[in-house]
Amino acid sequence: ENENLSVDHKLSQVCEVLKENIPYYDWVGFYFKNGDKEELKLRSFAGEPTDHTIIPFGKGICGQVAVSNENFVVPDVKAQTNYIACSINVKAEIVVPLFLNGENIGQIDIDSHTPDPFSKEDEEFLQWVNEKVAEVLS
Ligand code: SME
Repeated sequence: ENENLSVDHKLSQVCEVLKENIPYYDWVGFYFKNGDKEELKLRSFAGEPTDHTIIPFGKGICGQVAVSNENFVVPDVKAQTNYIACSINVKAEIVVPLFLNGENIGQIDIDSHTPDPFSKEDEEFLQWVNEKVAEVLS
């Protein structure tokens, strides 16, 4: 249990550091598969609290990434039909899956108030962040 607390603390710190240092990262969170359920559960975040702490697989950008195992970059959230709105200020979103021993166990999710801010560099950077987080989780 103490180990879980320290992992939670590290995940929270990662969220804070990313949000505070990258101006167009306005909300940063980690969702993980919720036990044996076909749903994601929010574990850590930085930014405004969200109502969407549980997301069924397939629903929204996050739920789609849980089943596709692929990065999902959304330059304009208004153009998405399968999207769960957390805040009217959000213009764009990126979700990158987190793999542990080759299994998609969760994801990092970032919302931006800036339209179309995410590049390939963000994808590569967030994949690297997730690899580091997987080391902490293993
Ligand atoms: N927009 C996400 C829901 C999570 S919030 O961004 C924190 C989605 O469509 O899955």
